[in-house]
Amino acid sequence: MKYKINISIKNLNETKFLAKVISKIIHPKVLILLKGKIGTGKTTFTSYLINEIAKEKTKVLSPTFPIVNTYKFGDKEVWHYDLYRLNNKNEFYSLDFEIAFDNYVIVEWPEVMEDLFPKKRIELMFKDFGDYSRKVDVIFFGYDYPFYNKVWKLLKQKF
Ligand SMILES: Nc1ncnc2c1ncn2[C@@H]1O[C@H](COP(=O)(O)OP(=O)(O)OP(=O)(O)O)[C@@H](O)[C@H]1O
Ligand SMILES: [Mg+2]
Repeated sequence: MKYKINISIKNLNETKFLAKVISKIIHPKVLILLKGKIGTGKTTFTSYLINEIAKEKTKVLSPTFPIVNTYKFGDKEVWHYDLYRLNNKNEFYSLDFEIAFDNYVIVEWPEVMEDLFPKKRIELMFKDFGDYSRKVDVIFFGYDYPFYNKVWKLLKQKF
């Protein structure tokens, strides 16, 4: 089953609000895939999301070159991937996803290895952007209607 919510973001503060909502509904083992062209805001969104999960100020850098950055806050761990530079499946299998999946997992550029991810996931597709505005599709794969409805109600407070 697939549910989709389309939102129009006007500025960075609204991206932060979206991250706050997502932080409220995720827990370890929930897979977040971030799609969209270069510079649409995937890392920016992730930075807000990780800061929400951490509950402390945390510097989040793009994992484009290391491919994965990990963060530890008490007993919580976040694995933040960027697969943009990935060349083949062997590289994918060397990235410790089987360990990562026990924790919070956020993946930029999953398109590169789309088929290798579990079907159950939350996708955010960043598109149609202006200076500060973004259109984002939030898509739930493998989640039930009450879950979708809960997120929709939270987002509806602003969007
Ligand atoms: N509403 C917004 N949401 C997110 N980013 C925004 C917004 N408005 C402006 N920006 C700016 O757009 C840029 C987005 O860059 P960011 O690195 O997050 O993109 P990205 O999607 O991760 O790119 P890449 O594909 O290279 O990883 C940042 O400079 C950010 O400040
Ligand atoms: Mg990025």
